[in-house]
Amino acid sequence: MRIPEETIDRIRQSADIIDVVSDYVSLKKRGQNWIACCPFHNEKTPSFNVSPVRQIYKCFGCGKAGDPVRFVMDIENIGYPEALRHLAKKYGIEIAEEQLTPDELIKQNERESLFIVLNFAKDFYHTHLLQTDEGQSIGLSYFRERGFLDNTVEAFELGYSPDQWDAFLQEASRRGYRPELLEKAGLILSKEGGKTYDRFRGRVIFPIHNVAGRVIAFGARILKTDKNQPKYINSPETEVYHKSQVLYGIFQAKNAIRQEDVCYLTEGYTDVISLHQAGIKNVVASSGTSLTIEQIRLISRFTQNVTILYDGDAAGIKAALRGLDMVLEEGLNVSVATFPDGDDPDSYVRKVGAEAFRNHLGQHTSDFITFKTAMLLKDAGDNPFKRAEIISEIIQSISKIPDPIKRQVFFQKTARQLQVDEQTLISESNRMLLNQQKQQLKQQEKTGPRPAGPTSFPEELTEILGDFPPDAPPVERNPVEARPSQNRSPLFKQEEECIRLLVNYGAHELEPDISVCHYMLSELGTMEFVTPVFNEMLTEIREGFLASEIRTADYFLQHKNAEYQHQTIGLVTVKHQLSENWQKHEIYVPTEVDKLADAAFTNILRIKKLVAEQRMREIKQLINQTADPTESDRLMLEYMHFKKVDIEISKLLGTVIS
Ligand code: UTP
Ligand code: MN
Repeated sequence: MRIPEETIDRIRQSADIIDVVSDYVSLKKRGQNWIACCPFHNEKTPSFNVSPVRQIYKCFGCGKAGDPVRFVMDIENIGYPEALRHLAKKYGIEIAEEQLTPDELIKQNERESLFIVLNFAKDFYHTHLLQTDEGQSIGLSYFRERGFLDNTVEAFELGYSPDQWDAFLQEASRRGYRPELLEKAGLILSKEGGKTYDRFRGRVIFPIHNVAGRVIAFGARILKTDKNQPKYINSPETEVYHKSQVLYGIFQAKNAIRQEDVCYLTEGYTDVISLHQAGIKNVVASSGTSLTIEQIRLISRFTQNVTILYDGDAAGIKAALRGLDMVLEEGLNVSVATFPDGDDPDSYVRKVGAEAFRNHLGQHTSDFITFKTAMLLKDAGDNPFKRAEIISEIIQSISKIPDPIKRQVFFQKTARQLQVDEQTLISESNRMLLNQQKQQLKQQEKTGPRPAGPTSFPEELTEILGDFPPDAPPVERNPVEARPSQNRSPLFKQEEECIRLLVNYGAHELEPDISVCHYMLSELGTMEFVTPVFNEMLTEIREGFLASEIRTADYFLQHKNAEYQHQTIGLVTVKHQLSENWQKHEIYVPTEVDKLADAAFTNILRIKKLVAEQRMREIKQLINQTADPTESDRLMLEYMHFKKVDIEISKLLGTVIS
């Protein structure tokens, strides 16, 4: 079984990296490239880069990189031929290959075989629903009764499993699928005597798709009223189905989630399907389990906003509260919508229709913190001890929110709600955060320091801070000689340090083909220095670099501009001479060259931090001055952008202050 070369070429030519990656991750444009948080490792700031020009992706955090085919292989965890098949399907390219024989199937790796057999099962159930008398009269009529329309049945590839012991097993065997594989896929079970039979019998079938639309498992609902049988049975955990990592409906919902920029989270298959049919398509279900961290990360590939739609009963609300701090921790914005007692989203949307449903959401959605506070307050009544407990619980939740500005908003809100002083909440939260940080530090000491230097971060940072600072207005320049050296600004000192590193070590290679000069210039981008002489020297170094010449001390010492000479002399003078004693005893002392990578890295970060801080001060002033609310919103967003940058840098510098 082989895919013809010609077809492979066609697939490779059709597959567009942005298009392919977007099936799994929401990309944001950044300059020429697109970026996202990496789907292959856990991170909060994007280091996953996709280049449409070169048709490749690369993560500067975990190192995964490649072309569209490689991406599909990595993210689906499948082999080369399967990835090609996947892309062929996506781009409607027909592969003229032979039907698989059982022997060939064995040769495929197990995951690939599982996907194939699960897909076969899905087709089997779907065909039985639509094309057999039993399927039509029992399964399809049940779906119709529930109000599911034909194209809904198609969109979710719903099916029906015949009410016999081994209808599927027989058909699968006839097609050459081995029983071992069927069992590994969770499709059949074996009794003690070794006799095998179908797992799903006489039930309607809900295929569960992964984010790319492959069937990985099934849910099956009973149709008879039989007290001894569970209402739903589901596939067991298999090689390709890990319940905790899957959200039902994500494949059908992902585009709508991106568009609406919010994901509705419900409890079950029927909620997802009913809402989808009503035109509310940005909806998924966690199917039975309480929300897991993997599911949250799956959502956060498409949006940062989650609204939980749960039953109005007490159990539903308790379920809504559980695990939500975890969602906050991931930086997502969480809201909760409730429904009248006895209704779930499925029954409610069927009762009132799509428009009233949307209106209801508009009126009965509150952010999670407010919701939780109100719930707890209602429980506590007038009991002062209970009230104190609540306050600390709410502070804990708020403290989980990574964004300080959002935290602040919530402190204001809940202070009012709890009728306590906002400042009290904040100081209590700071105390908690500080404790957390201490714990983290202890943890880090155990696991060793972070890797330092440009090999670990530079390109990631270039991307975060890429067009940095965006449209920042010219800043006031401070002439070198205007003030005595002790009083020079932090920015002056860092600019000086930058030039010092460049004139002393510009040509030094941090790693093959990456000189200090190359590294620092690419980090600085088009940024201009505030101090005129340093800015001029930086410009000269840039011009040199563009002409493949690394301009260091020698260049500036011979320069006709006396001020450059003067500065350079000051900068090349070695600060700390090694004492002869050290050398005599041949004790190794790390020289500056040993720490160059770290020095360059730190210097760049400090400069960017200072510029961000400066810009934030300016924005604050502008916010105070403007009366235009849209302008003020825009400024606020810009402020938050810089705040993020600032926090990110502080983290890298290891100087986080709460
Ligand atoms: P429901 O009990 O409402 O299921 O559970 P339903 O199919 O809508 O049944 P009726 O018609 O209201 O009586 C809602 C969701 O909870 C999950 C399913 O995903 C279902 O869609 N569920 C429910 C299970 O996974 N297992 C169960 O045993 C029950
Ligand atoms: Mn129901």
